[in-house]
Amino acid sequence: MLSYLVNYLPENKDIKGTYSEPFVGGGSVFFNMNSKNALISDLNSELITLYKGIKLYPHKVWETFETFPEGKTAYYKIRNTVIKNKPLYYRAARTLFLNRTCFKGMWRHNRKGNFNVGYGGEERRWVITHQNIRLV
Ligand SMILES: C[S@@+](CC[C@H](N)C(=O)[O-])C[C@H]1O[C@@H](n2cnc3c(N)ncnc32)[C@H](O)[C@@H]1O
Repeated sequence: MLSYLVNYLPENKDIKGTYSEPFVGGGSVFFNMNSKNALISDLNSELITLYKGIKLYPHKVWETFETFPEGKTAYYKIRNTVIKNKPLYYRAARTLFLNRTCFKGMWRHNRKGNFNVGYGGEERRWVITHQNIRLV
């Protein structure tokens, strides 16, 4: 969709003040804008945790993401981890891990607020590289 949408977006030089994107999601439009002065937000607080973690601790997020074991058993163990008192970089890495290894990258919670998408495999996990995290 991005190649279609860019035709309707302003150029960075034409944006006066702050570029604001309240439904940032995966950020394809935001990252394409490459704006130096931007405000992003999203209803999904775990997604915002992921962006904050990457912003503050890109290397720790990557190292943690990389060291999560592969396979279905590990996936459910990490999915069931209580994250309340875990550091920001861990919560960010876990969100990235769940998004990349759950079924088709779906995002869904049960009534208790726990992420409950089943395991989807490792194929989509290693599309992400350390370099991607640094660029983000
Ligand atoms: C399709 S994604 C956005 C795609 C993104 N703008 C891009 O460039 O790829 C939609 C996002 O909107 C968020 N969202 C849905 N309802 C919202 C609301 N009421 N307030 C803030 N964010 C919301 C969702 O959590 C989701 O991450």
